[in-house]
Amino acid sequence: MVNAIQVIAIDGPSASGKGTVAQLVAEKLGFHYLDSGALYRIVALAAQQKNIAWDNAEALGELAKKLNINFKNGEIFLGNDRITELVRSEEISRGASEVAIHPQVRNALFDLQQSFRKAPGLVADGRDMGSVVFTDAKLKIFLTASVEVRAERRYKQPIGKNTIHKGLGANYAQILHDLQLRDTRDGQRRTSPLIQTPDAVLLDTSNRTIDEAVEFVLNEYNKKLHKNVLSH
Ligand code: C5P
Repeated sequence: MVNAIQVIAIDGPSASGKGTVAQLVAEKLGFHYLDSGALYRIVALAAQQKNIAWDNAEALGELAKKLNINFKNGEIFLGNDRITELVRSEEISRGASEVAIHPQVRNALFDLQQSFRKAPGLVADGRDMGSVVFTDAKLKIFLTASVEVRAERRYKQPIGKNTIHKGLGANYAQILHDLQLRDTRDGQRRTSPLIQTPDAVLLDTSNRTIDEAVEFVLNEYNKKLHKNVLSH
């Protein structure tokens, strides 16, 4: 059945800026926003709190099915606990990419991700939004930047309204190394690896500002909408 609610899928590697771009595009269009990476981060954090190892696929799958996750005003809650900054630590970033390799975890999060598809539309950011979760997305963007540019951005990145670095205590070289490891893990895992599907539009932000990237996505989306009108 065709789902009339439009989705813009924005996939790409860690720290490419896709989260910021996706949120701004959602804001401009009045669409909902799904930060799918946050879900994997929450699984890693919840597992750590419950002493479940990040390689225990079965237990992680069960845990992921039962999580009580809430996104409210830019904050993330697990049960009653506000975990917005906790899930952004470098340790949990690594944990997220470790728990994300397990099909049990990915399957458990599939329906939850789809439930974000609500009128008037959704901008979803992650690794497999266009390739697996929202294969019928109106627009698929593969947003990337060189690993050096991404490491520099993450190094300087504040969290939310605070000025805490995502890489709290980490230096540039360490962040670069972690990003390279995560790129390899995300790109080479067997289930839902990070890939640019043939129907996705490439957006390299190495030499673009955030505003330019947002403009690019909105333009591409308008082109898709226009194309539909013409072909009817
Ligand atoms: O996007 P973010 O860096 O927050 O994602 C954290 C981790 O979650 C990624 O490194 C990736 O391993 C995993 N992830 C995923 N599929 C998604 C979103 C994130 O595997 N759709």
